[in-house]
Amino acid sequence: MNDPHLWWYISRASAMIAWALMTASVLWGILLSTRVLRRVDNPAWLQDLHGYLGGTALVMVGLHMVSLMIDSWLAFTAAEVLVPFATAFKPLPVALGILAFYLLVAVQGSSLMLKRLPRRFWKGLHYASYAALLLVSFHAGFTGTDVGSLWYKIVSLALISIAAVAVTLRIIAGKRGSRSATRTDADPAATPLHPTQRDMVVASATAVADGVVGIRLERPDWGVLPVWQPGSHITLHLPNGLQKQYSLCGDPANRHEYDVAVLRTAASAGGSTWIHENLVPGMSLAVSGPTNHFGLEPAADYLFIAGGIGITPIKAMIESLPAGRDWRLVYVGRSRQAMAFVAQLEADYPERVIVHARDENVGGLDLDAVLGGPALTAVQVYCCGPESLMDAVAARVPAERLHLERFIPVARAARPAAPIQVLCRKSRLEFTVAADENLLDSLEAHGVPILGSCRKGICGTCEVRVAEGTPEHLDSVLDDAEKNSLGVMYPCVSRSLSPSLVLNI
Ligand code: FES
Repeated sequence: MNDPHLWWYISRASAMIAWALMTASVLWGILLSTRVLRRVDNPAWLQDLHGYLGGTALVMVGLHMVSLMIDSWLAFTAAEVLVPFATAFKPLPVALGILAFYLLVAVQGSSLMLKRLPRRFWKGLHYASYAALLLVSFHAGFTGTDVGSLWYKIVSLALISIAAVAVTLRIIAGKRGSRSATRTDADPAATPLHPTQRDMVVASATAVADGVVGIRLERPDWGVLPVWQPGSHITLHLPNGLQKQYSLCGDPANRHEYDVAVLRTAASAGGSTWIHENLVPGMSLAVSGPTNHFGLEPAADYLFIAGGIGITPIKAMIESLPAGRDWRLVYVGRSRQAMAFVAQLEADYPERVIVHARDENVGGLDLDAVLGGPALTAVQVYCCGPESLMDAVAARVPAERLHLERFIPVARAARPAAPIQVLCRKSRLEFTVAADENLLDSLEAHGVPILGSCRKGICGTCEVRVAEGTPEHLDSVLDDAEKNSLGVMYPCVSRSLSPSLVLNI
């Protein structure tokens, strides 16, 4: 501490470390954005490391500036290290360094406020880190009191070379990325978009838990997206021909991005496996929806029960609840590592979230204890997760207080199929659907404008209004009383109890 040159050493060391960290952060960011590192199952630490490098660089810049003021020989004033051209010592290179500092503050600050800023604004600001690195290179190359030494020249040359290679890589990969971001994965001529579908671009795909990838989608022109309510899902039209529904789990107030999380399932029909193995940022996907059959009804008290990936619609519900509502979440999963968003939910709502990770608890969740007690007789129960969990909850909660989101169809007993005489009012079409013919297939074959997606009676896409007749509900979308009161049916699986149906389509 008694060395009279201590603060000069600190000033030089912090400057060099800051320069090296900035170069590493920019290089890391470029490797992430050009997919060299950024694959679907990237662990989150790959992204975090980029942020930590940039943040530490900023801390080092701060130390550099402070040490310039403390050192008795350099003796800079606060104005000289904060205001461009306030010093007589190499005014231009110093000013470039000061500008780089402000750019770095803006980049790091906007990254900390990422959730509150429009993504396009953040992206634009983030590009300023290239300018900051350029300014720092000029500043460091001309300002230091030891710039003439051999070691300094070698380090400078190495850092500038790394930055030049990284930026060149970004330019080349960026051009390739923009080409691949056109709809080449699914031949546009072969798969024209339905009017209710829109082309979206994968903005990011990052691991949010073991086997779960969080996907952010945005319009290619960063346009405004349709409004959605918590509980809504969208349909991804995958290039392999499959259509898969995923609950939106982001912020409904964000009108430019849709967030979903996809669990890779062993019994995947090809949807989640395809997504985990092929989906990368920059890729185009046709998306339809949002559709909502799991809406949050106004209530004073809520009990949310989520199992595994069933947390996705529940997360959106919790985060949009108005203040003053009472609620609890019971979140069940195999292990904390496999439970998406668990750490965030526990940190944000420590008093309200009960986590039941099976590897930490002996025995299963005691649902009777969770659902029992007079205090719970008035709560609205929202449950999403494995069928066994939803069936167990359904067996304990009256239907009028229970809301389920199913992703696997419930096995429902159907009567022996009989022919149906169908009249489509708006289309002015009348035809007979044979006993062995699917009602949705028949509507499509006759040119009735109707959309199907899951074709299993779970997504609600094929909803049609019934003007006359009695449908035989065989779907799992809403409970039958609700469908009858709304006057709707889902013809992908449902049929008719009456010999004829008049549909308002
Ligand atoms: S197509 Fe999904 S419910 Fe009919």
